[in-house]
Amino acid sequence: MGLFSKDIETMDDLFVHTLEDIFYAENQIIQSLPEMIEKATDAKLKQGFKQHLGETETHVKRLEQVFKLHGSEPRGVDCPAIDGIIEEAEDIAGDIADKEVLDAALIAAAQAVEHYEITRYGTLIAWAHQLGRDDCAAILQKNLDEEKTTDKKLTALAESRVNRKAAS
Ligand SMILES: [Fe+2]
Ligand SMILES: [Fe+2]
Repeated sequence: MGLFSKDIETMDDLFVHTLEDIFYAENQIIQSLPEMIEKATDAKLKQGFKQHLGETETHVKRLEQVFKLHGSEPRGVDCPAIDGIIEEAEDIAGDIADKEVLDAALIAAAQAVEHYEITRYGTLIAWAHQLGRDDCAAILQKNLDEEKTTDKKLTALAESRVNRKAAS
């Protein structure tokens, strides 16, 4: 089945498809974060990943609520984009021996993940409003806000500590 199969005909179908895409992505992120936590050496980075793992588990629960409100079954649909981002992160992390350079790479990889989530939630929220589902949009907004906060924290961490140490 193609990424945009003929099953998608209406905006509502497209909304559900994209909901399934981010549902899959959030679940893949839950699978990959423990390895990121283990590999991170900077204490704040490790702690940040741990906190975001907890938040990501909440994101999945909120998505289940959105599926329910919408009247559809929570299910994931393969998302090659997030698989690629995670695969690339694992590849590069496996190649770096220096711990501080590794932390910088982990932050960069995590930001790629956050930006993927941010683009998906931004779209879903706009479509939810368009479809008259402000209730769904309000829940999705909570996830978006946490992704944005995480992204900002990662930027601050990269700028203040990790990159400087790696360059020395
Ligand atoms: Fe998330
Ligand atoms: Fe996230």
